[in-house]
Amino acid sequence: MARITLVHFISASLILISCIILLSPYFMTRSSIQTTSLSNGLKEGSHRDPKLIIGILSATGNWKLRDAQRQTWISEMKQDLPLSVEYKFVLDRPTQETIDELDKKGDMVFLNLSSSGYAIKFGEKLYSWFKYVAEHYPETTIVAKMDDDVFLCTKEMIERLNELKHKKLYYGWQHKDIVRIDEMFVVLGIDLVLRISQRKLCSSAQFDCDKSELVETNWGGTSLGRWLSAYDDVVTVADNANIIYYHRGQKPSLDIYKEDNFCQKYLLYHKASVDDMFFLYKTKTQ
Ligand SMILES: *[C@@H]1O[C@H](CO)[C@@H](O)[C@H](O)[C@H]1NC(C)=O
Repeated sequence: MARITLVHFISASLILISCIILLSPYFMTRSSIQTTSLSNGLKEGSHRDPKLIIGILSATGNWKLRDAQRQTWISEMKQDLPLSVEYKFVLDRPTQETIDELDKKGDMVFLNLSSSGYAIKFGEKLYSWFKYVAEHYPETTIVAKMDDDVFLCTKEMIERLNELKHKKLYYGWQHKDIVRIDEMFVVLGIDLVLRISQRKLCSSAQFDCDKSELVETNWGGTSLGRWLSAYDDVVTVADNANIIYYHRGQKPSLDIYKEDNFCQKYLLYHKASVDDMFFLYKTKTQ
């Protein structure tokens, strides 16, 4: 009797031990993934293999807008989203202040461009951002470039982009003149980003440019529209109905302070001040 119990005990133990051994890679992988991401210093909301990478064009002095973005819609990237997302603030070149900011926040890229300032070579900035993505994130699916005065309805926009994600996507608020998405928020499929990053930028008068080169119009949106017109397989999606965009100098046509929950109706608010961002965020999370 005692022997049978002993045999039972030994076989039960053996089964238990084999289970532990079999399952241990599962536990080990999970815990080692966590340790790796911690030791890599990755921040919340960032992923080693993002499917959407967002570049937010910003200027050294705009740290208030950057902080407002970090504390509002960027902070919402922590939640479970259908696409893994990574973001970077994209600046022309480092200064002591922005180097300190990068040390603290770890979310900035310096393009080290020769030119800077308003409307100067926006095409070059866009091009440099695409080259950066091609080098560092070639495995991503879609790539966004946006401005630091844009408020995103994080979950809603990412759900929308997850529906649309295509390696030849060209998405945003479309102007009526030519096929041109406004540069305040534009999303491109990685195939288009890789193609553009392999071409050469031509900053001289356009009649001096080779046909294969990218003409710099000084404006990001018009430059990009022309660069993409070389391809006939671009999947353009104009989402004007879901995006609140303002022309330069245009008075706001929508009073966000009268909206109960902006993000139930729209995906994006352009020309957001620091206060606007906190307001939009508050009404969302109430
Ligand atoms: C810009 O220059 C800094 C050093 O001054 C360097 O750390 C950084 O990687 C450069 N950025 C790019 C995109 O190459």
